[in-house]
Amino acid sequence: MAPIQNHDTYCGAMQGSLAQKLFFVEHLPKLDYLLDYGCADGHLLRALYRNNPWGNPVLVGFDQDEQMIERAEAAALVGGGPLFVSNEAHALSNLTLASKKGALTSAVLLSSVLHEMYSQSADWKMTGFWKRLAATSVEYIIIRDMFWDEREAKPRRQFAPAIERNYPKEAADFDLMLSCGQSIDQAKYATEFLLKYPYQENWNRELLEDYFSIPVSLPARIQDAGYELVMWKPHCVPFIQERIKRDVGVELSYPTHVHGIFKRRIV
Ligand SMILES: C[S@@+](CC[C@H](N)C(=O)[O-])C[C@H]1O[C@@H](n2cnc3c(N)ncnc32)[C@H](O)[C@@H]1O
Repeated sequence: MAPIQNHDTYCGAMQGSLAQKLFFVEHLPKLDYLLDYGCADGHLLRALYRNNPWGNPVLVGFDQDEQMIERAEAAALVGGGPLFVSNEAHALSNLTLASKKGALTSAVLLSSVLHEMYSQSADWKMTGFWKRLAATSVEYIIIRDMFWDEREAKPRRQFAPAIERNYPKEAADFDLMLSCGQSIDQAKYATEFLLKYPYQENWNRELLEDYFSIPVSLPARIQDAGYELVMWKPHCVPFIQERIKRDVGVELSYPTHVHGIFKRRIV
């Protein structure tokens, strides 16, 4: 994966959808421990800490990008607040300790990180990830990400002409990244472009990411790993729909994102 060229812009863009990203708060019982896996600069954990929906849970952020962890630590809150680590084994072993204490309710949050992981990794590596996560005994798995489900009806109307009129250079860059058989004329790739074009400061990195890399079989995979489905809700994100309508004149009327919650099965 190409490095992030501008961490300020990258982190600024993530703040926009904060309320949307905290969807899970109203669907979960009081948590004692939350690991934010792929926490970036830690903004979600700081927002949770300030809003304090569950008293004082332990909030831990993990990111593989050490610069992100440095930013998270630099923004640390006085008098407690989230902890941040850049080592997955460390993050998961602490999660295991918390989850195996029967009285604690633990959760892992995977917010906008899974599509990056599926973009970077072969499917078998991701199977290993789900096994590692299940081995911690974490009680809840929370997912928020971009998601494309071919089984849902998609519009016949093509968006490519509007895209090419408004963003000719970016559309050409994007087209170069598509594989044989893929085209911006197809609703899936046109939609991916419409989600992607605002991130031009980190454009080379964004171009390499497959925004719709999460497989439709993911809920079944997580269930196979010992979890029951609490919620799997594909949806549109209003502020993104509005931005696309304003910039490109296109109305996206079908889901581009998903909210998911899974709960560990009692054995
Ligand atoms: C799009 S940002 C999302 C940040 C935050 N979770 C949010 O929802 O706003 C994705 C973050 O995941 C991190 N990331 C990507 N792949 C990762 C991996 N395999 N392990 C840990 N972090 C990863 C990136 O470094 C980046 O900070």
